[in-house]
Amino acid sequence: MAEKPVLVSGVKPTGDLHIGNYFGAMRQFVELTKEGKYKPYIFVADYHALNTMQDAEEMRRRTREIVMAYIAIGLDPKEVTFFKQSDVPAHTELCWIFDTLTTMPYLMRAHAFKDAEAKNKEINVGTFNYPMLMAADILLYDAAVVPVGQDQKQHIEIARDTAEKFNRIYKSEVFTLPEPYIMGEVAVVPGTDGRKMSKSYGNVIPLFGSTDELSKAVMSIVTDSSGQRPENVYAVHKLVRSERELEQIYAEHKGKYKELKEILITDLERYLAPIRAKYEELKENPSIVDDVLVAGKREARVVSEAKMEQVRAAIGVN
Ligand code: ADP
Ligand code: TRP
Repeated sequence: MAEKPVLVSGVKPTGDLHIGNYFGAMRQFVELTKEGKYKPYIFVADYHALNTMQDAEEMRRRTREIVMAYIAIGLDPKEVTFFKQSDVPAHTELCWIFDTLTTMPYLMRAHAFKDAEAKNKEINVGTFNYPMLMAADILLYDAAVVPVGQDQKQHIEIARDTAEKFNRIYKSEVFTLPEPYIMGEVAVVPGTDGRKMSKSYGNVIPLFGSTDELSKAVMSIVTDSSGQRPENVYAVHKLVRSERELEQIYAEHKGKYKELKEILITDLERYLAPIRAKYEELKENPSIVDDVLVAGKREARVVSEAKMEQVRAAIGVN
């Protein structure tokens, strides 16, 4: 039997998850991994997060939260290998080897770096180097597909370039070229102010918040006063309800923004209820997450170490 193509993705344990993360990124993992088409590896990118989160207690808490979140939304730990990046030393080891192949001008062209630099010149080396660690994450497992949000597409191109460069310089075929997998239709979820929903803009609707928090966020969605359809409300609404139904609801409640927001709150609550219930169950049974991470660490170490043997042979350090 031919082996299944590998799917790899990383998630940073930073910030409270919002519905932009869910509809833009998390949900597609569930769909992709349910089909049994791929061999999926999903890991907590804790070493990436270290660039911005330097608090041990918070790191531990958020790492657990993210694993619980992904199991709660429907990822099946029996199908998916779930692990922590920091549990698998090959990631940072390969990152170093890539550092020796990559040039500074090349990394300076990365959007994420340019954005960070525009905000603050004092960028840490880890942030500058972020795409090389990410390339290692992907290439260690011979990933064929890498599901990510639109904003991560360039990082995958960088991983492809890096794989090609390594293979060329070392006259080898050690690395497989990965493809990005971008969910087109709901590529960007708008926040309460109409900009991209992002924790850094403070415009989020929480995924695991209380009813109260969710209501507050929805009520704060910015609407114009033209009496036309409130596009910012509608854009979120269509994530949880069919457009056919919405056309009618929005026609019936023309200009009644508060009522439309109330309907949205009810619809979001209904949609999110089973996910929240599963999350609470995992919170009460911490050994489930512990066991998932131990099993994932074991498997990821075996696979990545086999790849590192090829890498070491190719570069001549074995
Ligand atoms: P944030 O912008 O809140 O800091 P992250 O950068 O941590 O979110 O994003 C984590 C994942 O969720 C990424 O794959 C990203 O593409 C996706 N994502 C975040 N916000 C949105 C959004 N508003 N619409 C679609 N996808 C999103
Ligand atoms: N950079 C990704 C993000 O911000 C997280 C990530 C780290 C990742 N390593 C990865 C995603 C490898 C896919 C593959 O969301």
